Amino acid sequence: MEKYPHVGRADHERTAPAARPSWQHVVWLLASALLLLAILALWTQSAAAQTARGEDTLRRVLALPANEVQGGALYALRCASCHGSLGTGDADRVVPSIAGQLQGYVAKQMIDVAEGDRTIPEMHRALARADLISPQAIRDVAAFVSALAPLRTPAQGDGKAVVVGEQIFLAHCSHCHGKDAQGMEAGWVPALRGQHYAYLIKQMRQAAAGHRYSMDFEASERLEALMLPDLMAIADFLSRKTATVSAKVPLKPNGLSNDSIVHKDLP
Ligand code: HEC
Ligand code: HEC
Repeated sequence: MEKYPHVGRADHERTAPAARPSWQHVVWLLASALLLLAILALWTQSAAAQTARGEDTLRRVLALPANEVQGGALYALRCASCHGSLGTGDADRVVPSIAGQLQGYVAKQMIDVAEGDRTIPEMHRALARADLISPQAIRDVAAFVSALAPLRTPAQGDGKAVVVGEQIFLAHCSHCHGKDAQGMEAGWVPALRGQHYAYLIKQMRQAAAGHRYSMDFEASERLEALMLPDLMAIADFLSRKTATVSAKVPLKPNGLSNDSIVHKDLP
């Protein structure tokens, strides 16, 4: 029962019969709802299928034996012009450092770009080259990149909020990215330490806005909840968190992390 049925109503409103939807209306409504559902189902299915195909390719790539010398030659030819001969990127042009990045992640990004799961216009051309489309080429380049010494001197923020940044990172991010931001090979979670400040900010904002399609849902939700000052604090902390050697590779007695390539150290 309405409390005051007469209040605020004109007479004709009280007496007029309620408009009933005709059966044609109902049929139309049902049909459009079904069509909408079908479109939604197709859309999510194709996105999932694309991601599954990417993952399948990635597993096949990583199962191959790596040839870092071959990878180094391809890298010099196709990647060094932007990422630098030591893989350390270019802070001013917001090109990331990829030196010492985990190989599963490097291979995944190459496949994601090739499959359209990540948009990097600058890189599409490089990855479409005939010498780079084979799984073996991706394997070799990823192995070469991950064996490079991580950058010790990335571009950093102003240093004012590093402690805050560390706290946020430890509370919201380190269970995936690792306590030392070294990343995790299982799950292809990237290392974030030693990365350029501006690139980190850019990626966090892109991920929060849903532009990194293959980003973990939990990760983008956490990033979405953070305001710019917090993102700046995290980026500053990460850019100051550096490792002298790739956390993944134990050093050999000769002081190198790998037998087949010579590590050139930074000046
Ligand atoms: C024309 C310039 C250019 C070339 C050539 C290029 N890259 Fe990139 N690459 C970029 C830029 C710019 C980004 C960052 C894009 C963004 O902000 O999302 C990037 C991102 C990446 C990433 C993702 C890094 C991360 O931390 O997520 C990887 C891995 C990578 N490149 C590897 C390569 C490899 C391997 C090659 C050679 C086959 C290559 N790139 C060639 C410009 C280039
Ligand atoms: C559930 C696990 C998870 C959590 C939690 C998480 N991330 Fe990530 N993050 C990932 C994965 C996986 C990727 C790589 C996505 C891809 O393949 O494109 C990633 C990518 C990134 C990148 C892009 C790196 C690059 O080199 O381009 C940044 C930056 C980043 N995360 C920052 C954060 C920060 C900051 C937090 C905490 C607020 C966080 N992440 C929480 C899993 C996580």
